[in-house]
Amino acid sequence: MAKFSSLVLVAVLASLSSAIAASWNVNDINLSVTAKNGAKKADHKLEYPYAVEDLKADNSDILKFSFKVENKERPHQAMVVFQSQDEFQDEIMVAAAVKPSGKGRFEINFAKADPKFRYNTRKFSMTFLVGGSKVEEPFKYALGHIEVQGPSANPAVRPSRVAYEALDEIHHQFRADQKLINRAVSGLFSLLVLAPFAALFLLWSQLGIKFEPLKAMAQRPLELVAGLVFFSSLAAIEFVFYSYWTHVTLFPVLQYLGVLSLVALVSGRSVLSSVQTRRLQRTQASSKKDL
Ligand SMILES: *[C@@H]1O[C@H](CO)[C@@H](O)[C@H](O)[C@H]1NC(C)=O
Repeated sequence: MAKFSSLVLVAVLASLSSAIAASWNVNDINLSVTAKNGAKKADHKLEYPYAVEDLKADNSDILKFSFKVENKERPHQAMVVFQSQDEFQDEIMVAAAVKPSGKGRFEINFAKADPKFRYNTRKFSMTFLVGGSKVEEPFKYALGHIEVQGPSANPAVRPSRVAYEALDEIHHQFRADQKLINRAVSGLFSLLVLAPFAALFLLWSQLGIKFEPLKAMAQRPLELVAGLVFFSSLAAIEFVFYSYWTHVTLFPVLQYLGVLSLVALVSGRSVLSSVQTRRLQRTQASSKKDL
């Protein structure tokens, strides 16, 4: 039983591969040129690989092409490609309808066909192509050449050629830098902004700052440390503000400020309370003196 089924399998595979590997069998290829009044100008019975060379047609003639496909399968496509033998190499594809009997045919009336046949007198190569999915090898037959006479008047106008070429490279244009204000003017305004500080320092120097608290602090190291921490935390807060102004974003700034303000709060409380006690001591001492 196993032997039998494997035999069947081999047979099926063999028939399949033969169906796929088969090539097209096309016979009975007729090519003729007929004048408008019905007179036959040329009639060729073609057989691969024979090619016609001296075929000529007027712009009012009719070209007839017929063939017969002998395969069981029907082709998906059967056509003749006309390619102009000049610098343009225009291609015109004319498809043939293939009947279930296998017979295929088409006619070209050059007066009404593709305008590419009517630019002027041109020679075309003819290639017969047959193809389909069931047969692996397509059929290709170079049938030869035909010269088609251009119209004596009003030749068709060739559309301008579309050139697919690289365009010039595009260079990005950055916007020019904004013009800055004159250095002298901006310097003047910087001085104006700084002027109040000069006034402030001048007035402070008039006040007569006492350094006694500093001396008193130096005698108590804990207070000195607290004072240093307080002032450096204030300086750090200023620095954070500066950073926020220049490059740091809001949320990191809020974190830094949260920590620094706690430090400033704790150290500031101790510093300010010691200052307060010293002031109270001083006022008590002076009031005793007054008494
Ligand atoms: C080709 O022409 C011959 C006669 O010259 C004719 O018998 C034959 O049927 C034609 N073939 C086709 C496919 O029309």
